[in-house]
Amino acid sequence: MERTLSFSLSLSPLFLFLVFSLVQGQNPKCDTQEHGSTLQVFHVFSPCSPFRPSKALSWEESVLQLQAKDQARLQFLASLVAGRSVVPIASGRQIIQSPTYIVRAKIGTPPQTLLLAMDTSNDAAWIPCTACDGCTSTLFSPEKSTSFKNLNCGAPQCNQVPNPSCGSSSCSFNFTYGSSTIGANLVQDTVTLATDPIPGYTFGCVQKTTGPSTPPQGLLGLGRGPLSLLSQTQNLYQSTFSYCLPSFKSLNFSGSLRLGPVAQPIRIKYTPLLKNPRRSSLYYVNLVAIRVGRKVVDIPQEALAFNPVTGAGTIFDSGTVFSRLVAPAYVAVRDEFRRRVGGKANLTVTSLGGFDTCYTVPIVAPTITFMFSGMNVTLPQDNILIHSSAGSTTCLAMASAPDNVNSVLNVIANMQQQNHRVLFDVPNSRLGVARELCTK
Ligand SMILES: *[C@@H]1O[C@H](CO)[C@@H](O)[C@H](O)[C@H]1NC(C)=O
Ligand SMILES: *[C@@H]1O[C@H](CO)[C@@H](O)[C@H](O)[C@H]1NC(C)=O
Ligand SMILES: *[C@@H]1O[C@H](CO)[C@@H](O)[C@H](O)[C@H]1NC(C)=O
Ligand SMILES: *[C@@H]1O[C@H](CO)[C@@H](O)[C@H](O)[C@H]1NC(C)=O
Repeated sequence: MERTLSFSLSLSPLFLFLVFSLVQGQNPKCDTQEHGSTLQVFHVFSPCSPFRPSKALSWEESVLQLQAKDQARLQFLASLVAGRSVVPIASGRQIIQSPTYIVRAKIGTPPQTLLLAMDTSNDAAWIPCTACDGCTSTLFSPEKSTSFKNLNCGAPQCNQVPNPSCGSSSCSFNFTYGSSTIGANLVQDTVTLATDPIPGYTFGCVQKTTGPSTPPQGLLGLGRGPLSLLSQTQNLYQSTFSYCLPSFKSLNFSGSLRLGPVAQPIRIKYTPLLKNPRRSSLYYVNLVAIRVGRKVVDIPQEALAFNPVTGAGTIFDSGTVFSRLVAPAYVAVRDEFRRRVGGKANLTVTSLGGFDTCYTVPIVAPTITFMFSGMNVTLPQDNILIHSSAGSTTCLAMASAPDNVNSVLNVIANMQQQNHRVLFDVPNSRLGVARELCTK
């Protein structure tokens, strides 16, 4: 079946207005049948994504655009950590905060296919619905689904959403995401992930959005709080999933999101998951040190320590692109990295956007190892460096946490997770990491 979707959205200052179109069925890779409980994962710039820019971006443009989105992402994470919403960093600018990887889900009866952003730091699923005011994307049409229903105000789920209200006896709620406000009705319908139908799945049917940071696609929250996918599919998936994120150097490749304990890797290193009761959706781990090459760099203990009260510590996040370390940790890593790269040659360091360690000549870079409790993860160069397509500029693809938001959080972001399988094993309170080339 061939279907054409077109829509428009406004993006960062780099593009004022772009028109995207997707012709499904042209690229056979985009239509691959999904099997069992494994979904294909696409980068948002993939040829299979309707959210990719309509024209090829230059390398600098892509990097700057991803960095701009990261800024909004970090603002969102900071608001979670601080337990309050925060004011926009870049007021007046249009920044679409779309998490970077998307999966396909089928919603309703008969099924309507929608693309949802994967977000490990969010609990809820929300989907833009017909008649949504402010949505810019493909919409779900509840009126065409025979299994759709609104939840009424007495439903227990209505107590688990933020700011519930009762309009015409059905449950609706408002929430903030980054610097946007989103109003949604709490509804239920069958959601099919790969080949698994999940009847009566509770999600937000978005009716209104204001502000610049609403992802145009819906969101599949993979956090572990109430109403999350994990909470609603306890029997089916037992709060276990893993993903392999494809590199954005190979946009034609897809990765996978594997739900449930079946077929998860056996040979994998683990570190304990830490639980912060006040930020229940975030996946905290204990980062104890960082090695550059063979040298463990000198980082003050409090820069890495987990603190449930302030929200400080380290999380794995699927929606941030470039890892951020709080300033003392980042500076220690960067300085050692520069020493190792520059060394005797005394190479000139340049910057690009938020990256402060770039070189315009070919370099030999040291590995970087994140040392977690019980698990060292040594990143190969592909996870550490970004190279311009012309090969003339190379940057260390990490940055210091922004200092104008609550900067207590270290974020292990998706560039550093690409081509690894990351396993979230909530029942056993552990997170596993193993190298894997995710190239389908
Ligand atoms: C949600 O937002 C709408 C306007 O955007 C407002 O009319 C409504 O009162 C809000 N509801 C709650 C519960 O805050
Ligand atoms: C990706 O796939 C598209 C269409 O299938 C093709 O035109 C393009 O050359 C491919 N790009 C790469 C880098 O393989
Ligand atoms: C490194 O180069 C800079 C200018 O490029 C120069 O000022 C500095 O003295 C040099 N350092 C060493 C140790 O050669
Ligand atoms: C991580 O590497 C350090 C050496 O830098 C080593 O002492 C430690 O035992 C390793 N940890 C694990 C869990 O392998």
